[in-house]
Amino acid sequence: MPLVTLVEVLKRAEAESFAVGAFNCNNMEIVQAIVEAAEAEASPVVIQASQGALKYAGLEYIVALVRTAASSTRVPVVLHLDHGTDRNQVWQALRAGFTSVMVDGSPLPLEENISLTRQVVEVARAMGVSVEGELGRIGGTEDHVRVAGREATLTDPEEARRFVAETGVDALAVAIGTAHGPYRGVPRLDFERLKTIRELTGIPLVLHGSSGVPDEDIRRAVALGVRKVNIDTDIRTAFVKKMREVLAARPEEIDPRKILGPAREAAREVIRHKIRVFGSSGRA
Ligand code: G3H
Ligand code: 13P
Ligand code: ZN
Repeated sequence: MPLVTLVEVLKRAEAESFAVGAFNCNNMEIVQAIVEAAEAEASPVVIQASQGALKYAGLEYIVALVRTAASSTRVPVVLHLDHGTDRNQVWQALRAGFTSVMVDGSPLPLEENISLTRQVVEVARAMGVSVEGELGRIGGTEDHVRVAGREATLTDPEEARRFVAETGVDALAVAIGTAHGPYRGVPRLDFERLKTIRELTGIPLVLHGSSGVPDEDIRRAVALGVRKVNIDTDIRTAFVKKMREVLAARPEEIDPRKILGPAREAAREVIRHKIRVFGSSGRA
C-alpha cells in the first residue's frame, strides 16, 4: 500500500494504547529487515532516516527503497525524517515525499525552537505531512553518564505544554533520561516527569534513544503515553555482530550477499522482538 502519515498510525496507537516502532535505516537490507519484521508481526511501522543516513545513501535512494518496500506490503508504512535540524533539509524531505518529519530545534532557546517548529508545522500541514518536535536534550552516552546537571537537560513539563499549544505538533519527543547510542549501565527513566508531560500536553509522546532500555521500562513508558519508540543502535549491533560472525567463520567469503543476507535476518529478529514489546503486533 502507499505510504501513510504518522498521524494516521498514531490514531490507532492512541485508541488502543500501544506504540509504533520507528526504526532507522541506512541501506536496502535494513529497509527490508524492517518491513519483513512489520509484516511478520502484522504491525504498522515507521521507517526513519537521519541526516547521516540521507547523506550516506542519498535522499532519492531512501525514498525509492521505502516506497518500494511499502508498495509490496499490506502493513501501514510511514517514511519519517529523523532529527531534521536544518530547515532546508526538512523542505527537501517534504518535496521528496516523506509522510512525516521531525524538526529538532531542541538545542535552540525555547522561543526559537517554538518559532522554527511552528513554521515547519504550517508548511507540512498544508502538504498533509505529520510533524514531530523535540523539547529537552536527549543526550549521547557521554551526557547520560554525567548525572550531575541531568535535571536541567530533561523536558520541563510546563514548557512542553506551552510548546505543544503554540506549535501544533502531532507528536513530541521528550528527554526523560534516555540517550542515543549504547548505554554504559542501565538508563534511569524519569517516569513521573513522563506522566506529567503527558497530562499537560495530551499528545502522543516519542521516546528516543530506546536501544538498550529494558523491555519492562519500555512497556511502562508506553502505558504512560509514549506512542512512538525510536530504535537504531540495537539494529546496528545485531546487523554488524552477524556480519562479524560470518566473516570470522569464513574469512575467505567474498560474496556480499552471504554476509549481508544473514545480517538482514538478524536485524529482522531484533525488530520483531521490539514490535512485540511495543504492543503493536497484530495492529496493522
Ligand atoms: O538519532 C540518531 C540516530 O541513531 C541516527 O544516527 O546520525 O548516526 O545516522 P546517525
Ligand atoms: P538509539 O540508537 O539509541 O536506539 O536511538 C535511536 C533514535 O533515537 C533515533 O532518533
Ligand atoms: Zn533520536
